[in-house]
Amino acid sequence: MSDIVLELKNVNRVFGQGDTKVQALDNVTFSVKRGEFLLIVGSSGSGKSTLLNMIGLLDKPSSGQVFIDGTNTTKLSDNKISAFRNSKLGFIFQFSNLLADLTVLENVMLPRNIQRTDQNAQKQAIELLRSVGLENQMHKRANKVSGGQAQRAAIARGLINHPAIVLADEPTGNLDSVTAETVIQLMKSMAKKLNQTFVIVTHDRHQFGEVDRIITIKDGRAFEGEDVPPKMELTV
Ligand SMILES: Nc1ncnc2c1ncn2[C@@H]1O[C@H](COP(=O)(O)OP(=O)(O)O)[C@@H](O)[C@H]1O
Ligand SMILES: [Mg+2]
Repeated sequence: MSDIVLELKNVNRVFGQGDTKVQALDNVTFSVKRGEFLLIVGSSGSGKSTLLNMIGLLDKPSSGQVFIDGTNTTKLSDNKISAFRNSKLGFIFQFSNLLADLTVLENVMLPRNIQRTDQNAQKQAIELLRSVGLENQMHKRANKVSGGQAQRAAIARGLINHPAIVLADEPTGNLDSVTAETVIQLMKSMAKKLNQTFVIVTHDRHQFGEVDRIITIKDGRAFEGEDVPPKMELTV
């Protein structure tokens, strides 16, 4: 198993043409190691979601390549992409996107069942629900748990297939700051415990505290580190 789980090589994404042409990603090249906890930051419209869509195989580069766990995904046929995505990637969204009529446990098992039917799925889902602190909520319907609990379940769901990368687009964007804090700490501790790579888009960099790595997107270009130093805290 290689130490590199993600590699982008000269990725460009252009939308529209002529006067309306937008270079949403401009020659983006970087790689990410197994276990790395990476934040993608940048102002609105800078290209963060476009980048995450490339890594999540929800959109294709206009040119360049995306390697996931050693596979050149740009060479995968359309009908192979969804199975590959399901096995190699876990997703956490701003809204937990749990299916309301299923229980928390059933939701966590969903990506696993798409993959294959196996007896271990339930055991592993219960184990994950324990580690995210939902052992007492797992048989509740998804629409009966709080926003923070739903997001914890979404984290467990994102991990159930042992993906190469967990991707999250503004995973705390819909939570109050106290709940956001617990969800962030949970993602960080799961990353450590499982040596799990996370790639997280956020506008709320400071709430994450110390992380392994930050990439700033500006006008579709990727920069290592933080572009803008943190604002000085105002005190009275
Ligand atoms: N499907 C699309 N069609 C046309 N332009 C798009 C599309 N998606 C994104 N863009 C443009 O690409 C740029 C980057 O967008 P996006 O990746 O959504 O930014 P961010 O997530 O950082 O706010 C913006 O100028 C946006 O308007
Ligand atoms: Mg966005």
